Amino acid sequence: MHPEATTGAGPAAQRAGTDAEHRAVAAAPGSPLIELRGVTKVYGSGSAAMHALRGIDLTIGAGEMVAVMGPSGSGKSTAMNILGCLDTPSAGSYRFRGLDVDAMSRDQRALLRRHALGFVFQGFNLLARTTALENVELPLIYHRLPAAERRGRARAALAAVGLTGWEQHTPAELSGGQQQRVAIARALVTDPDVVLADEPTGNLDSARSREIMDLLRAMNREHGITVVMITHEPDMAAYAGRIVHFLDGLVACEAAPVADSAAAHAGADTGAPAPGTGRR
Ligand SMILES: Nc1ncnc2c1ncn2[C@@H]1O[C@H](COP(=O)(O)OP(=O)(O)OP(=O)(O)O)[C@@H](O)[C@H]1O
Ligand SMILES: [Mg+2]
Repeated sequence: MHPEATTGAGPAAQRAGTDAEHRAVAAAPGSPLIELRGVTKVYGSGSAAMHALRGIDLTIGAGEMVAVMGPSGSGKSTAMNILGCLDTPSAGSYRFRGLDVDAMSRDQRALLRRHALGFVFQGFNLLARTTALENVELPLIYHRLPAAERRGRARAALAAVGLTGWEQHTPAELSGGQQQRVAIARALVTDPDVVLADEPTGNLDSARSREIMDLLRAMNREHGITVVMITHEPDMAAYAGRIVHFLDGLVACEAAPVADSAAAHAGADTGAPAPGTGRR
């Protein structure tokens, strides 16, 4: 696979969108890519208050591949939604490349989502009566590209996930693994800095799961895309360079992946950069 040729990866200057938009989400040099400090999230109020996050500290460096694990209800998706600017913390701070996300306007957050973040949701989230190609094109609608370029990039992203020839199929005509590939192509088509994946293999058998993880790891290693993924499966977490364990709305501990069969399958190398400083 040639990611450069397939998803249009390249210098930031080549990215879709206007220069002004890029400046709006430009980096503060030397800052970690992602930094959560004391992040809490409370749903509801009074006696019905649900403390989904109780004070998360997490630093993720550019180029890392991080797995988030933990029991159901421990706050993993809540934290992911905050990282993805789909939700805001009740307290604490979120910095992206040193920029204070909480201080951004809605529009600035939208720009950050549009230019820097890609999402793979559990359950794929594809539009049903829409072809694979159109599903992948969707995030580019906001990038003000000519239609032909949009289409070309969407085709290339589908090729990158091994779906050449399937462009005109709707999700119902695709297997679960193929649908998840479409979802990954959609996450990659904008050439994001970070892909956030919430249980990307949750609905797949183990062979399809390994294919998806191989794909995410290739994007991480070959494109330098930072990957943060939630998983319940140790075999899938073993693909990451670092595992963050959530418990009761807190980061309980961090660990390097266990060198089991999946890690061996992964080449068992420690190619990820040094972990961030999420530990206290
Ligand atoms: N929109 C919401 N309103 C109220 N409570 C919520 C909301 N979203 C999440 N919660 C609660 O916050 C807690 C954390 O939820 P979250 O979805 O982050 O868990 P999770 O770790 O992703 O679990 P799972 O592994 O089951 O996906 C849960 O108790 C959940 O019920
Ligand atoms: Mg969840």
